[in-house]
This record gives sequence, C-alpha cells and structure tokens, in this order.
Amino acid sequence: MSLKRTHTCGELRKEQTGNEVVLNGWVDKRRDLGGVIFIDLRDRYGVTQVVFSPQDNSEAHSLADQLRPEFAVGVKGVVRDRSRETMNPNLGTGEIEVRVMDLTIYSRSETPPFEIKDDLKANEDIRLKYRYLDLRRPVMQRNMLLRSKLYQVVRSYYTRNQFAEVETPVLMRSTPEGARDYLVPSRVNPGRFFALPQSPQTYKQILMIAGMDRYFQIVKCFRDEDLRADRQPEFTQIDVEMSFVNEEDIYEMTEGLIREVLRETIGANVETPFPRMTYTEAITNYGIDKPDLRFGLRFTDFSGIVGGSGFRVFSKTVEDGGAVVGFVVPGMGSLGRGVMDRLTNRAKEEIGAGGLIYIKNNDGEVYSSVSKFVSEETTLEMVKHSGAKKGDLILILAGPKPKVYHELGQLRLMVASEYELIDESKFNLLWVTDFPLLEYDPEQARYFAMHHPFTSPKPEDLHLVDKDPAAIRARAYDLVMNGSEIGGGSIRIHDRDMQKKMFGLLGIGEDEAQEKFGFLLDAFRYGAPPHGGIALGLDRIVMLLTGARSLRDVIAFPKNQRAQSLMDNCPDVVDTKQLDELHIMLKPAIKPV
Ligand code: AMO
Repeated sequence: MSLKRTHTCGELRKEQTGNEVVLNGWVDKRRDLGGVIFIDLRDRYGVTQVVFSPQDNSEAHSLADQLRPEFAVGVKGVVRDRSRETMNPNLGTGEIEVRVMDLTIYSRSETPPFEIKDDLKANEDIRLKYRYLDLRRPVMQRNMLLRSKLYQVVRSYYTRNQFAEVETPVLMRSTPEGARDYLVPSRVNPGRFFALPQSPQTYKQILMIAGMDRYFQIVKCFRDEDLRADRQPEFTQIDVEMSFVNEEDIYEMTEGLIREVLRETIGANVETPFPRMTYTEAITNYGIDKPDLRFGLRFTDFSGIVGGSGFRVFSKTVEDGGAVVGFVVPGMGSLGRGVMDRLTNRAKEEIGAGGLIYIKNNDGEVYSSVSKFVSEETTLEMVKHSGAKKGDLILILAGPKPKVYHELGQLRLMVASEYELIDESKFNLLWVTDFPLLEYDPEQARYFAMHHPFTSPKPEDLHLVDKDPAAIRARAYDLVMNGSEIGGGSIRIHDRDMQKKMFGLLGIGEDEAQEKFGFLLDAFRYGAPPHGGIALGLDRIVMLLTGARSLRDVIAFPKNQRAQSLMDNCPDVVDTKQLDELHIMLKPAIKPV
C-alpha cells in the first residue's frame, strides 16, 4: 500500500479545509472540464470529489487521464472549499473537494457489465454472476450494513437477558418432515448420509433438557424446497428456546427484541404488546394466516342475508355449507365498467375465483352487478350489513369454505396493491395464535404437523384426539410483520407419552419413531422441563427493514430461482474419484448439465 488512507470517502468536511489527506477507493464517475479532471471517489462510507489539475501536479494529472470507472486508486491531496455554485448539498462531503498531488492506481478495471448505481435495471442473473460489483452498489452496502447491525442488536439483547449462544451441528440426522433435506454423504461411513439442518429444532429442545434454560443462535438453515422471492434454500434464523415458560413469556421476550431491532436499525417505534388474532379469525376475516393489517378491507359475511335470496349462486353456496363473503373498498364506488371487468377477469384468471360480484353504493343509486337476480331490498340490506358508506364499493365472492376465504384474501391483497391502499411507512406487527395442530393431506391420506411434530396440543382440545383430530388446536404462534411471516414457534411437548401419541397421529409407527427420534424420546425419560421457543427469519426481517423486494437483496451470496449460485457456478459436477470415495454412483440416466 503506497498511500495509506487518513480518511474515508464519506468523512471530510469544511473543518478539514487546508489539511493534507489520503483517500482510497474506487472511481465512481469522471468528468473533464477545461483540462481539469474531476473524479467522484467512492468507498463504503461515501463519495468525495477529487480534482486533478495540471497546475497542481502535472504528473498526477496525466496519470489521471487513464482513470475509468471502478479503478481502485489512492490519492494524496489537500482539502479545499468548493465555491458556492459547485457545492453538492446531496453529499455529506459536498462542501469540499480534494486537490490531488499524488495518485496511485492500485488496480485497473475492465468496463463493468453494469453501472454501479442504486437504480439499476440490470438482469438479476448478471448481477448475481458479478456479485462483487453488485455489492459495490450503495443500496446493497446499506442492506449488508443493516444486516450486520441486526446481528449485534440480537446478540446484545439476548445475552443481556441471560440467553446462552450455543452452536448446534450443521451435519445432523435426516428428519424428512416439512421440506426436503440437503444430504451430505459420509466417506468414512459408506452408504450413510448426514442432512443439513432444516432448523436446529431437536437440538435446542435437547439443550433445554440439558439445563441451558435460555438458548439463542443466529443459525443457517437449509431447505430443499421450491423457491419464491421470500424463500431461499439457505437462510438464517434467529433461533430461541426457553425453559419453564408459557406463550406469554415467549411473546414478551420476542416483542422486546423486535422493538429494540426497529429502534436500533431504522429508528422506528412500535408499541408493545403486539395485537393477537387467532388463526380462525385471520382466515375468516382476512383470508390468510399472515394478514397485512397496514390496511383494512376486513371481510363481511353475507351468507345469513343472501342464503334465501333466490339467486342460485348465493343460495346453493350457503345450502352446501359454503359462504358468501366480501369487503368494502372505501371511495371506489365510482370505478367504471371497464375497470370492474378487468378486476373480474383478474379475479378469475389470477385467483381462480368463479366470478366477482360487486355493489357500488353511490349517491342516489345503489348498483349491483347481480341486480337481475337479487332484489333491491336484499342488496340494500347487504350494503347496510357491510357498513359501506356513500361512494364505497363492495366486492363479493361466493364459494365453499375455506377456498372462498383464500380467494377473497388474495383479492384483498390485489386491490390494496393496485389502488395503493397500503401505508408503506407503517410497521404492523401481529401474533397469529391457535393454529391447528394437524393438516390433512388428501393425496397421502394422512395428517402432517402444521408446525412440527414437537408442538404441544392445547390441553383443552385433547379430548378430540380420536373424534376429530383436525379440530385440535396447537400451542403454536406466528409473528407477522406487514403481511410477512417473520417468525414461528410453539410450546413443545415435554412428555414422552404425549410425544409418542403425536407421532401416532402423524402415522409414524412406534418403531419408526424410535429409529428417527429415539434420542429425543430417550431424553424425555430424564426430567424434561416444560419449554417453548420461536425462530425468526432474519433475512425476511432485513428485507422488511430495508424495503428490499427480494431476499436476494439482503443476502451477500444468495442462490437464484433455480437454487444455483451463478458467481461460483454451483452446484457443479464432481470428479468420479470424489464420487468413488463417497461410494456414490450416479444413475446412468443422469447427465449433469
Ligand atoms: P419455521 O419453519 O416457521 O419454524 O421457520 C421460522 C422462520 O424462518 C423463516 N423461513 C425462511 N426464510 C427464508 N427462506 C426460507 N426458505 C424460510 N423458511 C422459513 C420464516 C419463518 O417464520 N424450528 C421452527 C421454529 C420453532 O418452532 O421454534 C422453525 O423452523 O420467517
């Protein structure tokens, strides 16, 4: 390093005028004005204008002529005030510039495949291939720094509250519940495989049995599942477990963390305790188990009013045990026919709704799209029941439960985003509680644990075990922020017999349970404390705090939609020698592409 830096590119102010300084960084922009070369020099901390004039130093000036974007350089020079006209109020360093006496080019750059700037329109595959350039963009650096800050806040919060940070294994036994496992072959144990953890669930429970009392970990989890914008195959959890607790203890501890995180990272305040809603309330009022409550559009059930209306779509639905539900969109009663037709088409094509029925409650006229079939009296009653005001629009779907709730839930989100009804400046937090314990999969004709098999049922629902397992509620909860599930957890089963019963409900026979989870069942023989916990999706939290659109914008080296890393090109084929050592032979049909 020939020019050891004295300051960063975000640091210099008027007070340093006259000082000799050394800056290191990358060439951001270059302008030539009347033989004088202006360079915006950029590093993680900001941008400083540096100036090369033949009068200051002709050697540095002629070398500067070679500078192009993304060259890595060092400059030594003197801080000068900028004239009033040339000041840049958008830049922290905008009142000064550095007149350069000495320039070192550390490294040249080829023309980058895209510009290093925030509002980039480049194809994401290119960004991922050249991730080191993508990460130079200020917005990506801000995301990474916020993430770094988040780690510190989490560690400080939990250690202050007597939690011990414990690392759990990355090579563990395969437990194919939920998503698929990533498998790792063992060379020294031919034919045997480890799995990468989908979460450290069993280890953290065993740590409670081991008397750790309060555990947390910032931990990588791996799930081989279909990817979406808010899912990565490799992601990070803030994993937490506590002994001798109930739901209230977990809620309180987690709310404290979220409040501190919001305050320390983006200076936002949220009130605690967070509101709570049961799973059933969430589905019947918002059509989703993670409602975004930054806006209303709460459902109204019209079934009682329209069941006997004589209109077949309504009466048949209600007769068959379905529901006629809708929501009021304030002030949208004046939308024209064309807009309504387009919305109807989207509801059919994108959501799969059978059709969309609407009522416009305008001054002097109440228009119903099914006025031919439904009496004016019933329509007026529907308007009254919904609480719609003059000028409002009511959107209605009819269908079997719970399908109709899910469809209306999607319509609610579609309308809110299309008509910009979401207050983006708000942070809305919500606990969703009382999830069903089990979920029935008709294809496999068996129950699955909705959360995971270690979640405790509600004691008051235990009598349903034989009669109606689907109706058993779990001591499980999700934390929802702005319509995103940022965490989930439960109070666990800590009784061996209850855990065996749960495996039974899930169709896991006694031998299989002993083989797969024997270690946990055995541990339950030795004084397991009541315990429970939660895991928060760290990447999702960073995404919401930064306003990023994809998890890929808050993870330094993410996988793309095909679960590949384009920069270092993996997964990739390996030598036959490596496979031989692992006692693995590929099926002849498989030709790695
Ligand atoms: P769960 O499976 O609900 O619970 O995961 C907890 C949280 O992790 C985040 N998350 C993900 N983030 C990015 N990409 C993914 N593929 C992904 N999958 C999950 C979500 C989610 O809320 N062991 C339990 C927790 C417990 O019971 O304590 C568990 O893993 O934000």
